[in-house]
Amino acid sequence: MLNNEILKEKDIKIAQNRQVSTYKNDIQATLADSASLYGKKTIITGAASGIGKSISIRFAEAGSELILIDKDKKGLEDLSDKLSKSGRINSIYNIDLSDKENIDKFWNSLEQRCPDILINNAGIYPFMDYLKVDRAFYEKTLEINLNSVFWMCQNFIRLRGNSGGVIVNTSSIEAVTPFKEDLAHYSVSKSGVIALTKSLARDYGRKGFRVNAVLPGAIKTPGTENLIKKAIRGLQFKLIKTALDFNSRLTLGRWGNPDEVAKVVLFLSCDLSSYVQGAVIPVDGGFLSS
Ligand SMILES: NC(=O)c1ccc[n+]([C@@H]2O[C@H](COP(=O)([O-])OP(=O)(O)OC[C@H]3O[C@@H](n4cnc5c(N)ncnc54)[C@H](O)[C@@H]3O)[C@@H](O)[C@H]2O)c1
Repeated sequence: MLNNEILKEKDIKIAQNRQVSTYKNDIQATLADSASLYGKKTIITGAASGIGKSISIRFAEAGSELILIDKDKKGLEDLSDKLSKSGRINSIYNIDLSDKENIDKFWNSLEQRCPDILINNAGIYPFMDYLKVDRAFYEKTLEINLNSVFWMCQNFIRLRGNSGGVIVNTSSIEAVTPFKEDLAHYSVSKSGVIALTKSLARDYGRKGFRVNAVLPGAIKTPGTENLIKKAIRGLQFKLIKTALDFNSRLTLGRWGNPDEVAKVVLFLSCDLSSYVQGAVIPVDGGFLSS
């Protein structure tokens, strides 16, 4: 860093401190303290890819210790290597969350490492014609997208007891406005996540739990990029047409990147959102607004 840049940074810090001391009776904590997650432990599911990976990186930057879960072993190990210098990795768990037994085993293994924050992000969004959906396919979607969230939240609230905590669940714009064809099973699972979020916010708010949800939409991740590639390769015209209609509703005129979701999840997890409860927040480039 150049000398004059260091000076500039110092000047800004001095000016910020001066401002804080001027307003200190009007604010509860500085912005830096409110956004910090130092001293916190966070569980992040689906951490190996896309939105979950970005959340992990942002949370490490904000100072949280990380307990990362994914069924993708290699992706999880790569992320853990990437973040090893930050010193924020507490542990990684290569498990399939669609099996409740795995979830229970995971919570039993935590012992003293009681997490403060739970981010339920893992999910799948396979397309399937409603009339072709069979029981196994339907149940698999619900197991990972909804039931795992249900059991993860239950274990978290049980363990935290009267200490409270923060939960952020990942739903989808498709829960509110089913737009793409062949996703009825998915929309059902993600609507359930909203219902669960609001129910837990109501039941446990007075015990110190804040529970909110994000509704991502049109986020470029390995998951969505694979779908687009498949549609183009398979010349699935119906899907391509829907994608074009979908894009026209993005009032920001572009797809989002996973870090843009991660920043909202960070906001919902730290003290900046201390009075936000039972909220479902779209992070969708304006899709739901148009
Ligand atoms: N990308 C979008 O535009 C978008 C839009 C709406 C909602 N979402 C939701 O956001 C979340 C993340 O999506 P993404 O686009 O980053 O997906 P992604 O496919 O890139 O990443 C999802 C991660 O979850 C993990 N996972 C899937 N099933 C699992 C299981 N049974 N056990 C453990 N881990 C499992 C995967 O291995 C993967 O690492 C999902 O819940 C998805 O439904 C995404």
